[in-house]
Amino acid sequence: MHPHGEKILLSEQEIKTRVAQLGRVISEDYKGKELLVIGILKGAIIFLTDLVRSINNPIYFDFMSVSSYGDSASTSGEVRILKDLDKSIEDRHVLIVEDIIDTGLTLDYLTHVLSSRGPASLKICTLLDKPSRRVTPVYVHYRGFSISNDFVVGYGLDYNERYRNLPYIMALRPKIYGGGS
Ligand code: PRP
Repeated sequence: MHPHGEKILLSEQEIKTRVAQLGRVISEDYKGKELLVIGILKGAIIFLTDLVRSINNPIYFDFMSVSSYGDSASTSGEVRILKDLDKSIEDRHVLIVEDIIDTGLTLDYLTHVLSSRGPASLKICTLLDKPSRRVTPVYVHYRGFSISNDFVVGYGLDYNERYRNLPYIMALRPKIYGGGS
């Protein structure tokens, strides 16, 4: 494990197995339909690239960049679009792919914005969910894992842009992010 890690929360194999399961369920649910997968930069990228390879349907990608955290470990509660979609989602079956849902503010905002653009359907897929941190309710259609309130990094998730390339998800040592002893 990386020396900044407290413990491995989800191993590479655990993630791989769960992502393949999600892919099978999504393929079945969208059988016969084209899917527009919207990745929320940057954290969702690693999950998205693995997930789409487990889905059989014809898939198109688009990306949005939405910031609510800046470079700090806690949410500011403020959601801003840094990069919007390239194309219209009207009449498309849209699946938003996220790495983690924490307060729910990002997805609450995104679902309002995207549902107003007339998609045929709009669903949410997140690898991780921290339900104990929720400020705004969000309906999650596909969830990889529910986790407790550890500060997690790896497999796309960062702290100050670091650790995204770790193939597993680990809890960061509190002394690294300035929490606890
Ligand atoms: C993270 C994550 C979600 C959001 C979830 O993104 O990818 O988009 O925070 O938090 P919320 O439920 O409290 O709104 P972040 O702003 O850290 O950007 P990143 O994906 O580029 O790391």
